[in-house]
Amino acid sequence: MIEKKRIDGVLDSIGKTPIIYLKNLSEELSIRLYAKMESQNPGKSLKDRSSKNIILKAIDEGEIDKDTTIIESSSGNMAIGLSRICKLLGLKLIMVVDPNINHHTLNLIRVYGAKVEIVDKKDHSGSYLKARLETVKMLLKSIPNSYTSNQYSNPNNPEAQKEIFSEIVTSLGTYPDYLFVSVSTCGTLKGILDEVNHTNAHTKVIAVDAVGSIIFGGNASTRYLPGMGASKHTEFDIYNNLHAHILIPELDSVAGCKLLLEKECILAGGSTGAQVSALYNLIEKIESNASVCIIVADDGERYLDTIYNEDWVQQKLGLENDMDDLSLVG
Ligand SMILES: Cc1ncc(COP(=O)(O)O)c(C=O)c1O
Repeated sequence: MIEKKRIDGVLDSIGKTPIIYLKNLSEELSIRLYAKMESQNPGKSLKDRSSKNIILKAIDEGEIDKDTTIIESSSGNMAIGLSRICKLLGLKLIMVVDPNINHHTLNLIRVYGAKVEIVDKKDHSGSYLKARLETVKMLLKSIPNSYTSNQYSNPNNPEAQKEIFSEIVTSLGTYPDYLFVSVSTCGTLKGILDEVNHTNAHTKVIAVDAVGSIIFGGNASTRYLPGMGASKHTEFDIYNNLHAHILIPELDSVAGCKLLLEKECILAGGSTGAQVSALYNLIEKIESNASVCIIVADDGERYLDTIYNEDWVQQKLGLENDMDDLSLVG
């Protein structure tokens, strides 16, 4: 038997994240801009919610016992979220990752006690996702009593993320007019759209993806920032009531991160920078004084050696965008 009672306190610290009014950006853009601080989850990302819900439901449904080995593919935050939950519950975990994972994340996963498998075979688009998923399949076959949490299609992933929307509504006391959501598995987007539909909210949800990702079609190309984008289509139905989607080049995601840091002193990851960039791109289509919410999906401390390191940015992405370029887009 897995003793869940023992860890109630720590598990309860996931979710109910704060929302912050971004005064400087609000004034600059003539809107009311809010940030839902998913970076303040204990594992410092929105993936804490998915990890907790997937594992607890699998225990309840008898898919996991105390001897089960959990296997998952992730390039970062899901790996951290799952490794924390598995450590808490005393479960074995194998994380299948790729070389794009940053050192900090890799060290964290190991500190939390997960075993790490690094794949190094790229597909024709330059992505490691297919190789990671092949490795998960192989491990499932070869390890008795193994289980994959499969964030790519597990309904308990989007189910957990519904709460992000209900918490935003509770904090604001009303529905936001616009909500930006960055995508990879699209679990977050699916959960939020389901909740928007369920509550009949007027909120316009805008999906933010990376140039080079094929979630919304187009051609795959090499990407370096973990967290956002995918080289396969989503297995979740995300087209019911999605207002718009936008693709952001990685250099603009970096510029968005720097803008958020300069204007609001929030240190966030690339997928959050992409939302800021998306907002500047779309600002002329947003009514003045509209309430707009972005989701700070993870904490920027993970990216001090990458997004916040000019040499890395120049080497991987080319010449850095001037922050002012973003302000000019709108
Ligand atoms: C930082 C960050 N932003 C956005 C996402 C996208 O979330 P989802 O997989 O629910 O689409 C992820 C997923 O890992 C992430 O780590």
